[in-house]
Amino acid sequence: MTENENITTLLKEKRLFKPSALFQKTAYLPSFSALQTLRKKILKKPELFWAAEARKLKWIKPFKKVLVWNPPFAQWFPDGKINISENCLDRHLITARKNKAAILWEGEPGDTRTLTYQELHREVCRFANVLKNIGIVKGDRVSIYLPMIPELPIAMLACARIGATHSVIFGGFSAEALKERNVDAQAKLLITADGGYRKGQAIPLKANADIALAGSPSVEKVVVVRRTGAPVAMLSGRDFWWHELMRSASSVCPPEPLDSEHPLFILYTSGSTGKPKGALHTTAGYLTQAAWTTRMIFDLKEEDTYWCTADIGWVTGHTYIVYGPLSNGATVVMYEGAPLHPQPDRCWEIIEKYRINVFYTAPTAIRTFIKFGEEWPKKHDLSSLRLLGTVGEPINPQAWLWYHQVIGKSKCPIVDTWWQTETGAIMISPLPGATPLKPGSATAPLPGIQADVVDKTGKPVPPDQGGYLVIQKPWPAMLRTIYGDPERFKKQYWSQIPGAYFTGDGARKDKDGYFWIMGRIDDVIKVSGHRLGTAEIESALVSYPQVAEAAVVGRPDEVTGEGIVAFVTLQGRTQPDPILREKLIEHVAKVIGAVAKPSEIRFTDALPKTRSGKIMRRLLRELATSGQVKGDVTTLEDFSVLTKLQAAEEEE
Ligand code: WT7
Repeated sequence: MTENENITTLLKEKRLFKPSALFQKTAYLPSFSALQTLRKKILKKPELFWAAEARKLKWIKPFKKVLVWNPPFAQWFPDGKINISENCLDRHLITARKNKAAILWEGEPGDTRTLTYQELHREVCRFANVLKNIGIVKGDRVSIYLPMIPELPIAMLACARIGATHSVIFGGFSAEALKERNVDAQAKLLITADGGYRKGQAIPLKANADIALAGSPSVEKVVVVRRTGAPVAMLSGRDFWWHELMRSASSVCPPEPLDSEHPLFILYTSGSTGKPKGALHTTAGYLTQAAWTTRMIFDLKEEDTYWCTADIGWVTGHTYIVYGPLSNGATVVMYEGAPLHPQPDRCWEIIEKYRINVFYTAPTAIRTFIKFGEEWPKKHDLSSLRLLGTVGEPINPQAWLWYHQVIGKSKCPIVDTWWQTETGAIMISPLPGATPLKPGSATAPLPGIQADVVDKTGKPVPPDQGGYLVIQKPWPAMLRTIYGDPERFKKQYWSQIPGAYFTGDGARKDKDGYFWIMGRIDDVIKVSGHRLGTAEIESALVSYPQVAEAAVVGRPDEVTGEGIVAFVTLQGRTQPDPILREKLIEHVAKVIGAVAKPSEIRFTDALPKTRSGKIMRRLLRELATSGQVKGDVTTLEDFSVLTKLQAAEEEE
């Protein structure tokens, strides 16, 4: 590997936040030394640690074998039998959790529902019988295209109960995306709703589904939840109302004994080609890591009220709204709508109303809150919060500090959790009572996870040098394959770096062993021979007081190879001007060095993002290079953002 294939690192973040004595007093892992001891204990045989955690679950037939590893195909606890819905529900009914709230649901219009564990169990059993009654059997695939309403986790758990494999398709996806996913999974059933509320509007899900169904020949039946009451077309013999099927369904449904490696769900994630890429996750290993990480990273206690703002259409919602928290018997808040509706303080209102203790959200949401200003959270009593989390993108240190001070009142640890749809559960994260925090770093791999930063040959790079983030040993919640395409699974993840799973992310490890994610490798910018990750330059921009968000991309440059173009949104009512532009360029040079100086700064009202909130640098790169966007835009959240950017381009 030649020198300039490494990624040059520029950012030096020095601040350190130790867990408070108050937090440590009740934390499961209450000190750095306790964490070190645990790490040492399990370093040599992480599988034995995971096996011990797996034994804490309820098994129908206990396993003897822990791991069968035929690279890159793993089987965890392969000779055991288990049922996830039994672990998330039945297990709690013989304890004081029987009448504890499992789900506190709030609709966007302000309507609410509470489901205790017993009630949730009843609904799941009844819907599991509905599934059986309409001909769904173990191994069938079921597409679920629902808004964030309780029927969504009920449907997932009912599938898990009978051994059907669910494929949840985010409610914001188009008919075309739904169709492709139905076809790829060969789904036999689709579960949808008449609609759902988002930003004050009723989104017509069934109407979208009808378009998708025209091209989804494998789908034989459709179950429709009534949510908005909007009129929908029901095709006789194919379409059935949820509430009508449920009326006569029995609430007795024993959990099906399933192999540990039984496919639990498929979740589609964006690939570079047009073909949807379905990450396949299985049962026991997934649940083991989901349960352990939820308990330890969120330090989740019996009396906590926990809120993860993700949509269940993403893996974050699968693992940290449904399977992780419910297997721990937690009380979960679930919110249907948009975070800024009807006003920018909806989240703070919900935290105050439910006295939420643990709050897990995304950097994109935090940066949006920053943009709207402190006055919104200040209207609310947020004193119930004791722990905060983030996931999805690198969090800029400045945004981290805002979250820590304004939301956490400087008393809540922040767990910056790195993971992927493919990893199934959190991989790199602080343990809140034990890990001293550095803003912007996801800190270190969890005990039992072996990750490193390496060069192209798989050799670890020295501290503070950028490289490729890899995982070197199989982990329980890893995807088992890409659904229907094991070759693509091998090629995509296991053949780029010898002997390891390649995450697609660039990262560096500092001298203390802290991991800093530098951005996706595909987004690396090459300036005068230096390969620069996007995260550091963006964080430098965001550290300037008036900046809310920034995205940087490379554009061909005759002299330097590539030049840096920065797209910047400003806080509150700040107006862009040429002086600010100059100041920002100087600021970047000062904070991280002249090599990272943007050759151009473009101010914009908003950045193009995926529906899960990730900045789409690919589109900005096209825009900066050719002045227009020709590539695939189907995952774009808000099309008008792109239209505006293109119009601005034409004016210049
Ligand atoms: C990619 C995975 C994991 C659930 C949501 C996203 C980026 C994720 C972090 C973090 C820096 C992060 C990575 C990763 N990412 N968490 N804490 N710090 N980057 O799932 O859509 O599969 O995306 O998100 O680039 O590879 P996903």
